[in-house]
Amino acid sequence: MWFNSDLTLHLSMWLLTLPAHLLDFLGLWKPLAMRLFPHLYAKVSLDNHTVMYSCKKELFSRLPDFAGPSGQLKVLEIGCGTGSNFPFYPRGAKVTCTDANPHFQEYLRKSQAENDHLHFEPNLLAPAENLSEVGDASVDVVVSTAVLCSVNSVEKALKEVLRILKPGGAYFFVEHVCADPLSWTYIFQKIYDPSWKCVFTGCNLCRETWKDLEKAPFSEMKLQHIRAPFPWRPTAPQITGYAIK
Ligand SMILES: C[S@@+](CC[C@H](N)C(=O)[O-])C[C@H]1O[C@@H](n2cnc3c(N)ncnc32)[C@H](O)[C@@H]1O
Repeated sequence: MWFNSDLTLHLSMWLLTLPAHLLDFLGLWKPLAMRLFPHLYAKVSLDNHTVMYSCKKELFSRLPDFAGPSGQLKVLEIGCGTGSNFPFYPRGAKVTCTDANPHFQEYLRKSQAENDHLHFEPNLLAPAENLSEVGDASVDVVVSTAVLCSVNSVEKALKEVLRILKPGGAYFFVEHVCADPLSWTYIFQKIYDPSWKCVFTGCNLCRETWKDLEKAPFSEMKLQHIRAPFPWRPTAPQITGYAIK
């Protein structure tokens, strides 16, 4: 199963690289990629879910610790995509889904219908760097998984996370990052990065996202570097944890 999805990823990369760079040169690639990416990701995210299941289950088991005094947890997820994290959210949580790409909506709505243990607020089409429709200090928890690799500015996205979190609220993350510069994965990432970015709508393989997190003014942070069990993917080096406002 991992092999199939790895193959899909690598084949898409190699088949699409040349046309993608050509169309990008003509300014035509981005709108097309925004439409294609959700269909490719819907396939890949199925086994992402299986491979990352125990890591996410353990991480998200801490979500209820951040519920407000009423006991209800208000979660805002940035870059929801197909909604693959919903099964990990505790029963009764109020969830606001945000994403910058409108073409994920079909998959998102399906996933929302399947996860009837949650209460969904209206979906927001907004970039993580500008969540102006969300009030200051209004949510208990913000979640992002595989999103900070694609935002235009990690610094601005984290600033928004801190603005919308209640004091004592937490930002939970699972993000792929740049590998150790002395590893083969790093060389692999450097070779793939320009085409990967083009084909997978701005996804950077070489971000040192943990440095942005360490710079942001959170009061406390638990951050772990892990290697996801994706044998052949340049996205195997990941960081996971949570940061408290
Ligand atoms: C690799 S997918 C991950 C989806 C989902 N979080 C998951 O783990 O299955 C990246 C998601 O981030 C979204 N995204 C990219 N740039 C964004 C931005 N600036 N603001 C919000 N979402 C963004 C994409 O549209 C996509 O849904």
